[in-house]
Amino acid sequence: MVTSEACQYRNVTTTPLDHARQAFADRHPQSRLQHEMARTVLPGGHTRTVLTHLPFPLTFAAGEGAVLTDADGQQYIDLLGDYTAGLLGHSDRRVLDAVASALSVLASAGGIHHHEVALAQLMCSRFGLDRVRFTNSGTEANLMAITTAMMFTGRQKIMVFHGGYHGGVLYFASGAAPWNAPYDFVIAPYNDLDGTVGLIEQEGDQLAAVIVEPMLGSGGCIPSAPGFLAGVFAAARRVGAVCIADEVMTSRHGPCGLAALVGATADITTYGKYIGGGFSFGAFGGTAELLDQFDGTRPDTGGRRAISHAGTFNNNIATMAAGEVVLGEVFTADAAVAHTARGEEFRGHIETVLDKHDLPVSVTGYGSMMSLHACARAPSTPHEAAERDETLQELLFLGLYQRGIYTAARGMINLSLVVTDDQLSTALDALDDCLTELS
Ligand SMILES: Cc1ncc(COP(=O)(O)O)c(C=O)c1O
Repeated sequence: MVTSEACQYRNVTTTPLDHARQAFADRHPQSRLQHEMARTVLPGGHTRTVLTHLPFPLTFAAGEGAVLTDADGQQYIDLLGDYTAGLLGHSDRRVLDAVASALSVLASAGGIHHHEVALAQLMCSRFGLDRVRFTNSGTEANLMAITTAMMFTGRQKIMVFHGGYHGGVLYFASGAAPWNAPYDFVIAPYNDLDGTVGLIEQEGDQLAAVIVEPMLGSGGCIPSAPGFLAGVFAAARRVGAVCIADEVMTSRHGPCGLAALVGATADITTYGKYIGGGFSFGAFGGTAELLDQFDGTRPDTGGRRAISHAGTFNNNIATMAAGEVVLGEVFTADAAVAHTARGEEFRGHIETVLDKHDLPVSVTGYGSMMSLHACARAPSTPHEAAERDETLQELLFLGLYQRGIYTAARGMINLSLVVTDDQLSTALDALDDCLTELS
């Protein structure tokens, strides 16, 4: 019999954090039951490590617009936006109708269909790609981007950044996780251009690729410093390494992603999250020279075979049809520019609220992605972010949750397109109230 910490939440409360966890557990009896049941078949009670928090993650029953309803019937303004995948909010009719209509004509082709080509055309023209290939997740997209670079260069080493996250098996929160895919990684310091260029020069012709997020997403919404990305890519090119921008989260910024906004051009860019409109999605795209290695119809050149990239659901009809609506109708380049500006404005409002309180809480981010940190100064490196006060961070998360505002336990906020101005101002009031209590 598996026992959970959640099951033990009948202890005498001692600290403010114990009290907050106990109050949370008491307020959500149905979620607690669900969690206890789930733990008997799912390790930890679910299949997404990021959702883990004490006393237990809630079970959600419904979502409409930017509002989530939990198993106990309580409602939350959803400021998490499913870690950027939920850009359209809940139950967007245009996406649901397009998927239903596509599936009613052809559900599972085991062949080519027009939705795949249409989405590829939208992605190439929007993001300036020669070619693109679809995967089922951002993790897969990054694994394939790394493969592309290794096959192209004939080299083995992959430069990543401390604090970076490129998927479950490409995890560098504090060094390389022991469960990572077994590549030969070189870990560079994010936002330290001199240090990174030094490492690139040291690795020289061993380096196949540099993979980097234009803003650390999971690492705390820490934007790249001015000139950092372009400087890293220039140094990588000098040693013949392939430059990979991981825009799985950040392609939502500006008309064609964050790398372009910070003046950097990658050879391969990876995508995921919101583009699938709620369905599993990933993609990697870039120059014809690199991507045409996947063209199985090309004659072998110099003994080099085409790279195989199979995947039963790579071109699944639901995702392809949803993606067409997302990029073609809902999240156009103009909509993306407006949403980025709206996010910048909201982060400014958060700063104003934080300034009213004498608590070590700060906010970082860019556009519609941001993160609250229990740090007195807004961190600009993963090391600074790691110095946060863990207890205060958790109290803030639980305090906002209790006030009907859903964010990530680690403080992340991603605005959806459907969140209203009223909901945002309710969230700011909740933050203000929560900080007053914590003071
Ligand atoms: C920057 C980045 N790359 C890759 C991934 C992995 O994407 P997925 O969860 O779809 O595998 C994530 C997921 O959070 C991410 O934030």
